[in-house]
Parts: sequence; structure tokens; C-alpha cells
Amino acid sequence: MARSVLVTGGNRGIGLAIARELAANGDAVAVTYRSGEPPEGLFGVRCDVTSMADVEAAFDKVEAEQGPVEVLVSNAGITKDTLLAMMKEETFTDVVDANLTGAYRVAKRAIRPMMKLKRGRVILVSSVIAMLGQAGQTNYAASKAGLIGFARSMAREYGSRGITVNVVSPGFVATDMTADLDTEAITKNIPLGRQASPSEVARVVRFLASDDASYITGAVIPVDGGLGMGH
Ligand SMILES: NC(=O)c1ccc[n+]([C@@H]2O[C@H](COP(=O)([O-])OP(=O)(O)OC[C@H]3O[C@@H](n4cnc5c(N)ncnc54)[C@H](OP(=O)(O)O)[C@@H]3O)[C@@H](O)[C@H]2O)c1
Repeated sequence: MARSVLVTGGNRGIGLAIARELAANGDAVAVTYRSGEPPEGLFGVRCDVTSMADVEAAFDKVEAEQGPVEVLVSNAGITKDTLLAMMKEETFTDVVDANLTGAYRVAKRAIRPMMKLKRGRVILVSSVIAMLGQAGQTNYAASKAGLIGFARSMAREYGSRGITVNVVSPGFVATDMTADLDTEAITKNIPLGRQASPSEVARVVRFLASDDASYITGAVIPVDGGLGMGH
């Protein structure tokens, strides 16, 4: 039977590639989107992960459509870059609210049904910046590093229930998020010498969601062309 999958921020970028990859794998895939139209061929639920009410409503719809979520991919994320000296408190808390507390909200809503199922896969999309740091990204780096401690604590809490919790840590991926960055300057520090395509991240998520990854939990898997080596 098709597994019920939910990918947050699955309407574009890395999230959409993950959703398409898992759908091609035979899963029933739902994605969240905030505005506009959901991507064709996927079940879309409108949801802002900064709202617990939105998250509750989205899960209710997904459960009604395709059953309890067995694979949760928390991918929705934002950047609001500026140097710390200039960073307003809300610029910090907005990013943490979307990237880290958003993951808490969806994982919290997903966990009880997964416990009932006695199986589940939670995959959180972090970033190489979590461990490497990046000038102008204290807010983003803090949110993405927070995901690692969150995932590892969750992995310890729910391992005995057959639930794995892992983190994927992409480097520099060609999406809207990185469209304005200086590709040449960044790629010269990447051992593989290029940015990733969204599907290169998606294929690692597909692996972590598969039976082949049944004994992996609490792991942080870099998909960064070597950019974060040693961190
Ligand atoms: N691109 C990279 O180089 C890179 C590297 C490392 C990690 N990452 C991480 O990978 C994830 C996806 O990034 P991307 O590059 O695909 O970015 P993107 O193209 O900017 O897409 C971001 C996605 O997150 C959604 N989103 C943002 N805030 C949300 C909220 N409050 N509620 C619900 N959805 C929200 C967006 O929805 P809307 O369309 O409605 O805005 C969109 O679907 C992010 O967590 C990002 O931090 C990206």
C-alpha cells in the first residue's frame, strides 16, 4: 500500500523535488503551500507552518485524503539575512519561528498517529550552515542547528516505537532561495565545484524514507558536495 507522505514547503524548490521523488516511488504525497496553486498531480494543503491552527487543519485534511502521515518531511524554510549588529529581534525570531518552531509544530502533530502505527519516518531539512556558520545568517544558522538537537532528542524518544528521525543537511542548491547569491564565489569553496540540483537532495530523502535506511536514526546526512567536510 502507498505510504502517506507530507512534505512542508512542497510547492517549489527542494520540497517540490522531494515530493515528486517520493510520488514517483509510489507514495501518496501531500504538500503544503502558502499561496497560489498547489503543484499539479500532488495533493496540496494550504498551510503556514508558523500557525499551529494551520498545521492542525492541514494534517486533518491529509489524514482524511490519504491516511495518517507515515513519512513527514519538514522542509519549509526562510532566510532573512543581515549582520547581527543590524538584526532586529523580529528578524531573528521570524526565521526561528518558521524554520525551527515550524518543524516542532509539524512533528508534534505527526507523532501520536505515528506512535499508533508503530512506524514512521521524520526527515528534517537543515543546512550546511548549521555547523559551518555564515556571516549574515546568525538567525538561519541558529534555526538550522536547532533542528539537529531537536531531531536527535526525538530519535531517542521514539526509536522504540519504530520511528526514525534524521536530518538532511544540503549545501548550495539551485533554488529561488539561492538565486541572488554569487554562484562563482560560493562554488569555488565546494570540492565538487558546483551547486546541487534539488533532485540530488530529494534522492537522499527518498533513501532515508526507504526500508534501506531502517537502521539509521539521529543522523545528519550532508548533501553538500563536500562544502561542510569536517564540521
Ligand atoms: N537552496 C539551498 O541552497 C538550501 C541549502 C540548505 C538548506 N536549504 C533548506 O531547504 C529548504 C527548502 O529550501 P529551498 O531552497 O527549496 O527554498 P525556496 O525555493 O525558497 O522554497 C521554500 C519553501 O518553503 C516554504 N515556506 C517558507 N516559509 C513557510 C511557512 N512559514 N509556512 C509554510 N511554508 C513555508 C515556501 O512556501 P511558499 O512558496 O509559500 O513561500 C517554499 O515552498 C529550506 O528549509 C532551506 O532552508 C536550502
